[in-house]
Amino acid sequence: GLSNTKELFAKAIAGGYAIPAYNFNNLEQLQAILQACVETKSPVILQVSSGARKYANATLLRNMAKGATEYVKELGYAIPIVLHLDHGDSFELCKDCIDNGFSSVMIDGSHLPYEENVALTKKVVEYAHKFDVSVEGELGVLAGVEDDVVAEHSSYTRPEEVEDFVKRTGVDSLAISIGTSHGAHKFKPEQCTRNAEGVLVPPPLKFDILEEIEKRIPGFPIVLHGSSSVPMEHVNTINQYGGKIDAAIGIPEDQLRKAAKSAVCKINIDSDGRLAMTAAVRKVLAEKPGEFDPRKYLGPARDVLKELYMHKNINVLGSAGKA
Ligand code: G3H
Ligand code: 13P
Ligand code: ZN
Repeated sequence: GLSNTKELFAKAIAGGYAIPAYNFNNLEQLQAILQACVETKSPVILQVSSGARKYANATLLRNMAKGATEYVKELGYAIPIVLHLDHGDSFELCKDCIDNGFSSVMIDGSHLPYEENVALTKKVVEYAHKFDVSVEGELGVLAGVEDDVVAEHSSYTRPEEVEDFVKRTGVDSLAISIGTSHGAHKFKPEQCTRNAEGVLVPPPLKFDILEEIEKRIPGFPIVLHGSSSVPMEHVNTINQYGGKIDAAIGIPEDQLRKAAKSAVCKINIDSDGRLAMTAAVRKVLAEKPGEFDPRKYLGPARDVLKELYMHKNINVLGSAGKA
């Protein structure tokens, strides 16, 4: 069956790596994630956003994820799989997922006043823990787009709040804001410097804030959202084959590698998969204009996705070989 996050996070913190949390909305994404994680022997968190549930249908999506535990056995290695609600925005949504077999949920009250965030998160925890479902909360606001919520500016997590929040809510993990953001445009070019190769380098993450947080809640599982690296390779392919994505800048891999060694034990990646998939589809359709079998462009997209996830597990998060 599906696993919750408790044991996986404890091992990840002790081992200095992070568990990948990959979003999916469709069959090919799910196949790519599972194939990559089986091949690299990595535990995995399958993330479903409320937008994904609307798009793919909640019943279909959760049954696909439940089938994942059988599918990985067929692939030859039963990795631990968590089915997680990404950015739950209400008690009702979290409850619906808990009642329907999710092993983990996020309640994102980060946009609420502090006391309201505490109350809502606590309510979800009390319900979830009856069913051994783990809960992720959030303190601090990421800039960018989260479902329908757009935050113009980020506000970093306040270390002085984390201990009280964790104690009073009983959450199992805490998402924090230290300079990451959602989407493919995490920084403006004018915020960046150029390295020797002429590549734009964004300002580093706020590791001082992370350290301060770790001091206040030692060994407590920390989550990083908005952790796509926005590979130039895929952005360039998209632009080469008729797309137009300007000034796309992500989180450099060395920053994520450093974070994974700390109490950061879950790293969320969605946009990179979208870019890789779009690049592959555009390339096939441009090179083979007569192609109209979806398997002939979604299949290659699935292969490129799988490569991307394998790379992350092996070279960035360090989760390969940990299942
Ligand atoms: O945090 C947002 C995730 O990337 C999910 O995105 O709400 O468009 O499905 P979505
Ligand atoms: P990215 O947009 O950087 O992939 O972040 C995904 C995320 O945080 C999902 O919750
Ligand atoms: Zn997120």
